[in-house]
Amino acid sequence: MSETKKLYVIGWPIEHSRSPLIHNHWIKKYNLNAIYAQKAIAPDDLAEFIHTLKRDECLGFNITIPHKEAVFEAVQRRDVLANKLGASNTISWRDDVLYANNTDGYGFYTNLLDHSDWRKTDQPVIIYGAGGAARAILQAMHDAGAPHIYIYNRTQARAEKLLADLGIQATILTGLTELNECLQQAGLLINTTSLGMNGENDLDIDLSLMPKGAIVADIVYTPLQTGLLKQADDLGLVTVDGLGMLLHQAAKAFEIWFGILPQVDEELRDLVLADL
Ligand code: ATR
Repeated sequence: MSETKKLYVIGWPIEHSRSPLIHNHWIKKYNLNAIYAQKAIAPDDLAEFIHTLKRDECLGFNITIPHKEAVFEAVQRRDVLANKLGASNTISWRDDVLYANNTDGYGFYTNLLDHSDWRKTDQPVIIYGAGGAARAILQAMHDAGAPHIYIYNRTQARAEKLLADLGIQATILTGLTELNECLQQAGLLINTTSLGMNGENDLDIDLSLMPKGAIVADIVYTPLQTGLLKQADDLGLVTVDGLGMLLHQAAKAFEIWFGILPQVDEELRDLVLADL
C-alpha cells in the first residue's frame, strides 16, 4: 500500500482553520489516501518549510495570513492569475517544482453565482475595501465581465495602488457622499474587509439606498450573518455569505491536487457551520 500523502494549511499564527475539516471530508468521501493538517509556520521558518518539502510525501499546501505573498515569491512557477495577483493560496507540484495558484477569486465568484442570480448588467458593482481579498475579488469580477466596478476604501491611496497594480479600469469612490450616490444604482455590494467579524465594528453603510433586488455579499463568515447581511436581509435584499467562498476556494484547490472538483453541498456547509 502506498504511503498516505500529506497536505497542509500554513499560517502564523494559525488559529483554528476550517480547511482541515473541509478537505478531510472530501478525502474521506472520495476514498483517497491522504491527510490534511494545519501547521503553524513562523515567517522565519517559511523558507525551510518550502525547501524541505518532498514530492513523494506532500501533495501541496494552502496558505493563509501572512504568507500568501512570501510563498508566491518563493516558488519557481506560478499560473497566470496568481502571477497577476502577486499572491497564492494554493501550492501544488508541476513536474518537480512547486507551482502557485490562487483560488480565492474563483471561490468568491462561484459562490456568488451559487447564491444569487448576478448577471452582467449596467448596474454598478461596489467593492468595499482594497486589501488582499479585494485584489482577488476585483480581478474575478473584472474577468467575469462586470462593466462598471467601483471601489471604496478608507485609505484612497490603497485603492489607487490596487487598480494600478492590476491594470483594471474602475472608479474610485472618494467619500461617503459618492458611495451613497453609487449605492442608489448598485446591483452588487461586496464587503472584502474584515469589518463585521466576531460581531465587532460592523460596516457602517446605509443599504436602504440600494435598489430592490440588489445583492449584498460579505467575505466574513464568523458570524455567518454579519451586521451587514442582517441589514440587507431585513431590507429584503439578496444576501451572499462568506462561508461559500471558503468552501469553493477549497474545492478548486482540491481539484488542483486530486483532479476531482468536489461538490460543495449542504452536508459540508452544515459540517463547517457546526464548527464555527
Ligand atoms: P486582507 O488581506 O485580509 O484583505 P488587509 O490587506 O489588511 O487584509 O486589508 C484590510 C482591508 O480592510 C483594507 O481595505 C482596510 O482599509 P485600509 O486600506 O484603509 O486600511 C480595511 N479596513 C480594515 N479596518 C477598517 C476599518 N476600521 N474601517 C474601514 N476599513 C477598514
